[in-house]
Amino acid sequence: MYDLIINNIGMLATPSGNSPRKGNDQKDVITIENASIGIKDGVVAYVGTSPCSEDAKTVIDAKKCLVTPGLVDAHTHLVFGGFREYEIPLKLSGATYLEILAAGGGILSTVKNTREASKDELYEKASSFLDDMLKHGTTTVEAKSGYGLNLETELKQLEVVKLLNEKHNVDLVSTFMGAHAIPSEYKDKKEDFIKLLCEEIIPKVGTLKLAEFCDIFCETGIFTAEDSEVILKVAQRYGMRSKIHADEINPIGGSSLAGNIKAISAEHLIEADRAGMESMARGGTIAVLLPATSFYLAKNFAKAKEMISLNIPVAIASDFNPGSSPSFNVQFVMNLGYLKYGLTPEEVLTAVTINAACAVGRGDTVGTIEVGKQADIIIWDAPNLNYIFYRFGNNLVDKVIKKGQLVVDNKK
Ligand code: NIG
Ligand code: FE
Repeated sequence: MYDLIINNIGMLATPSGNSPRKGNDQKDVITIENASIGIKDGVVAYVGTSPCSEDAKTVIDAKKCLVTPGLVDAHTHLVFGGFREYEIPLKLSGATYLEILAAGGGILSTVKNTREASKDELYEKASSFLDDMLKHGTTTVEAKSGYGLNLETELKQLEVVKLLNEKHNVDLVSTFMGAHAIPSEYKDKKEDFIKLLCEEIIPKVGTLKLAEFCDIFCETGIFTAEDSEVILKVAQRYGMRSKIHADEINPIGGSSLAGNIKAISAEHLIEADRAGMESMARGGTIAVLLPATSFYLAKNFAKAKEMISLNIPVAIASDFNPGSSPSFNVQFVMNLGYLKYGLTPEEVLTAVTINAACAVGRGDTVGTIEVGKQADIIIWDAPNLNYIFYRFGNNLVDKVIKKGQLVVDNKK
C-alpha cells in the first residue's frame, strides 16, 4: 500500500542516475507515456506504465499532463535585506555593475541593509520567497551568505538558512560566501579582510557546521584567482567544498582555478575561455549557468553548447539576488536555456534537475524520479516537455509533491 499514487500521467520526463550528465548524456531524458508513480514514506516506490491499483491514502489524477522531478535551484543569494530597484535610473544613465559597486552601492548597499535587518525579518522575507519558489516548482534551493561580510552578519544569514531548512517544505543547501565583496571598512585593505575571513570567520562557520560549501566572487576589483585559491583552501580544511563565481564579467582565471582545485562547480562563466573550460572538464567541475543574470545585466550568454561539447556537465540556476537577478523563477531560466543557450528541452531539464542536484551535493537523493529517490515531483499544466519551453512567461506548474506530500495545488 502506497501513501500517494499519481495516475494517468500523459508524459513522465526524467533524467536518471545519481551523477552529473555530460556530453551526449546531458540530453538523455527518459520519457514514459501513460505512466504512474507510487510513493511510500516520502520516497518513490514505483515508476511504470501499469496504473497503481493498490489502495493508497491519496490518489492524484494527473489528467494526462507532464510530470517531472522537482526543480533544483543550485545558485541563489536568498537571504538579504532591502531591494535595489533604485539602481534602475543609474543603470539607464550608463553606470555598469562594477561601477555601482565601486561607488559603495550594489552588493555593499545590500550589505548595509542586511546588517541592519533582524534575524526574524530576514527569516520572514526569505520564507515568503521560498513559498513562491515552491509554487513555481522549485523544491531544493542552494542559499549563499555574503551580505554580512563580518562575523556577526554572516552567521546571522547562515543561521536563517539553517532554520529555514528545518521549518520550510523546501530543502535548503547552505554555502558560505563571505568573500563576496570587500566591505567598506576594509576598503583598500583587502589583505586584512582576507586575514579576517581565513583566521576568524571561516573557522567559526566551519566549527558550527553552518555551510557545506564555500564560494567566492573571483572578479576584477574583488578577489583575484590567487586570493580565491587561498580562501577556498582554508575553507576546504574546515570541510567546505569549493564553488567559484568565475568569469562573470572578466575572465581572470576563475574557471581554470575551479578545474585545478576540483571545485564542485564554477558559476556564471559568461566570459569563460577555452582554457578555463578545458580545465573544468579535466577537474570534473559542473558549470552552473545563470542566464537570468545575462538577461538582466544585458550581457552575453554563456557558451553552454561548447561546454556540453567539452563534456562539462551543465546546470542552470536563477542566481536570485537583489542586484543582478531579482527573479527566482526557474521556469524563466529554463526558457532562456532553450532560447539563448540554444539547448534542447531535454538538456535544459537535466540542467535544472540532476545536474543542479549534483552541483549542490544532492545527486543521491533528488533530481530524478526513480525508485529510492525522494519524491519531489511536479505535475505541470502542460501535455509534454516541449510545451513548457513554448508557453514562456506563465507559471505552468499545477501541483508540487515534496517528500511525498502534496504541498502546492495552484489551481485550487
Ligand atoms: O551572482 N556577482 C556577484 N554576486 C551576485 C550578485 C550580488 C548582488 O548584486 O547583490 C551574482 O550575480
Ligand atoms: Fe551569484
